[in-house]
Amino acid sequence: VGLALVAQAAGKLYFGSATDNPELNDAPYVALLGDTMEFNQITPGNSMKWGATEPSRGTFTFTKGDAIVKFAQDNGQLLRGHNCVWHRQLPSWVSSGNFDNATLQSIVQTHCSTLVGHYKGQIWDVVNEPFNDDGTWRASIFYNTTGPSFVNVALQAARAADPNAKLYINDYNIEGTCAKSAAMANLVKSLKAQDVPIDGVGIQAHLIVGQVPSTMQENIEQFTALGVEVAITELDIRMTLPVTDALLQQQKKDYQTVIAACKAVSGCVGVTVWDYTDKYSWIPSVYPTQGAALPWDANLTKKPAYDGIVAGFLP
Ligand code: G3I
Repeated sequence: VGLALVAQAAGKLYFGSATDNPELNDAPYVALLGDTMEFNQITPGNSMKWGATEPSRGTFTFTKGDAIVKFAQDNGQLLRGHNCVWHRQLPSWVSSGNFDNATLQSIVQTHCSTLVGHYKGQIWDVVNEPFNDDGTWRASIFYNTTGPSFVNVALQAARAADPNAKLYINDYNIEGTCAKSAAMANLVKSLKAQDVPIDGVGIQAHLIVGQVPSTMQENIEQFTALGVEVAITELDIRMTLPVTDALLQQQKKDYQTVIAACKAVSGCVGVTVWDYTDKYSWIPSVYPTQGAALPWDANLTKKPAYDGIVAGFLP
């Protein structure tokens, strides 16, 4: 048994993990990451972001991203590119550039077409986190300067650069039905009405033990009914430390619930955990009292959550 094997047996394209360049020097970690019975898909956690790939205007650096792609290709794993346009991890020439609307649209166009053109044949988070939790547009440098147009420009640039790439918009707190997921659904409708290319909605799923929304399946169906696919793109389910058996058991149930919601909808094509081991989780650096969010612990030992994922995919 392996997570990618059970996912594929359930009709999904993949089960995958995020990773990052420094981690590729950790031999036991790498051995498991490259095991395609567990993971047949990889997402670079940082190395394809704007600050990493276009640190100064028009100068592109693909070395770190290329290393992740090579790892995936050597192992026969799919890759999700992450991401073209996001308000975080921007180089300062973008975040404090004070560009006018036309100039910033052209900067977005160049960035997305160059990035997606370099990494052809991938799935792409073209636009990341465009909304506030109340469903209004996030006041990013992009929205503040171009209005919603940056989304159209980014998607059109990506499609032109690689007609075969799968183009996604990705966000958090859109797991269950809520104002933010409704905003995402409305954006998809509006893009389709304008003939702007959009292939999928990425549901990040940075969740909390005991707080998985009960409306996940219905919410995924709401998106697939619009004619796009869905992926769970950054799954982790954190707990307040210390770890207890009760919390691990609840976490197992929660993983099973999320996976079962994806399994139940044929248009939900795959699931990615935001790294697979607690050793490399982003959670403790942002939420110091929380952690243990992933299916393998920091010693690369499987947690009950692993069995929850398997159970979620089983018939
Ligand atoms: O590379 C520098 C290093 O040179 C420096 O010494 C070190 C000191 O802090 O920082 C390093 O940069 C860090 C970077 O990760 C690479 O490790 C940043 O500080 C840190 O903020 C950054 O965190 C990333 C975070 O996005 C930034 O927003 C996480 O690794 C990454 O997992 C996380 O991923 C995001 C997704 O892209 C979007 N959805 C939410 C998710 C979690 O926040």
